[in-house]
Amino acid sequence: MADNVVLIGFMGVGKGSIAREIVRQSGMIAIDTDDIIESMENRKIKKIFEEEGEAYFRKTEQRVANWLAASVTGTLVSTGGGFYKVKSLKKIGKIVLLHADFDTIYRRILDHPNAAKKLKKRPLFQDVSKARALYDERENAYKKVADIVIDVGGKPVEKVAKEIIKKVIKK
Ligand code: S3P
Repeated sequence: MADNVVLIGFMGVGKGSIAREIVRQSGMIAIDTDDIIESMENRKIKKIFEEEGEAYFRKTEQRVANWLAASVTGTLVSTGGGFYKVKSLKKIGKIVLLHADFDTIYRRILDHPNAAKKLKKRPLFQDVSKARALYDERENAYKKVADIVIDVGGKPVEKVAKEIIKKVIKK
């Protein structure tokens, strides 16, 4: 098993911001599965969903997961909200679930100065009631694959990053 630290969790929970803060505090190298896919495809996630459909995107996530498990070590990996479904997720490393309730997540997106852009780029967050249903559907599944659950609701990003470094990275 590779020794990476993998951040999973629902869209908008703050996986990217928390990863960047962990990098700032720890100096760890970090990559993001959506960024890898966008650079492999040279197009945005939204475009990939529009032009190829979700199934194609999920297959690409699986290819990235296989590569991570086989070839990447010592790295912080932030993921897209559906990446937790890949086969052999646990082979990539320690799975850290960032958890907050749906309303906290939605509020976090709406409070962002670039809220409209944040919503627009997420094909599965175009309709709030559909996004809430997806959240309800995934909540238990996230917890099932997680090695550790970190509650992020209402906590500053600096504090969450510190907690992950202490509990998972430099324990
Ligand atoms: C998805 C989440 C997105 C992105 C894609 C699908 C999902 O990433 O991978 O739109 O299935 O939850 P974020 O969690 O960074 O929004």
